[in-house]
Amino acid sequence: MAEPMVREEIEDYAARHTTPLPELLQEQVAETGREFGGLISMVSGQVVGTLLQTLVYALGAKRVLEIGMFTGVSAQMMAAALPDDGRLITCDVYPKAIEFAKRSFARSPHGHKIEVREGPALDTMKTLEPGFDFVFIDADKGNYLNYYEAALPLLAPRGIIAVDNVLWSGNVLDPKDDDSRAIVAFNAHVQADPRTVNVLLTVRDGLLLIRRA
Ligand SMILES: C[S@@+](CC[C@H](N)C(=O)[O-])C[C@H]1O[C@@H](n2cnc3c(N)ncnc32)[C@H](O)[C@@H]1O
Repeated sequence: MAEPMVREEIEDYAARHTTPLPELLQEQVAETGREFGGLISMVSGQVVGTLLQTLVYALGAKRVLEIGMFTGVSAQMMAAALPDDGRLITCDVYPKAIEFAKRSFARSPHGHKIEVREGPALDTMKTLEPGFDFVFIDADKGNYLNYYEAALPLLAPRGIIAVDNVLWSGNVLDPKDDDSRAIVAFNAHVQADPRTVNVLLTVRDGLLLIRRA
């Protein structure tokens, strides 16, 4: 098994000094584990979820776009920081996860702010009006570059794009498979892009924050 990027005790310490997930979301994460087994690792979780929520809050965001919803944990974390008339559009293609997420949104005090778009995210993005204050990219890694290029024109002037898993468990240092190579190519593309300013945070599996230059 690969070495963890950050010592487990340090990850635990960070989690113990980050606001806990609300009870409903803790239940939902546990339920995701029971229903989806190993796919639970796709959930961004408490620390990244709270970071996303804090960014949405700090931006005073009203419109959020999520690419890759899975069971809806990150969507609910971000929606909680939106005003009551705020809107989060989230995309996914996985019917079982979509059904699960919709059930969770129906129980959530913030579920009414969330709109689920089923189908490939690149198709959905073509239908959206620009003006998103925050975009969270967390779907299939092979399309990261395409998602970035589709998200930029949709971004509000002071908006932020956050991209998850950009360290890919450290595999970016020695990419041996298609997903690793796609993430390396994506990170290099953003780094060389004069249109944007970016910072790679080494939180969890790596979170890249991008804004217009
Ligand atoms: C890492 S999970 C998302 C986790 C979620 N953001 C969270 O933190 O709880 C990635 C999701 O992207 C979805 N996905 C994969 N390919 C997609 C595509 N072409 N369009 C939309 N969603 C896609 C998968 O079905 C999966 O549910």
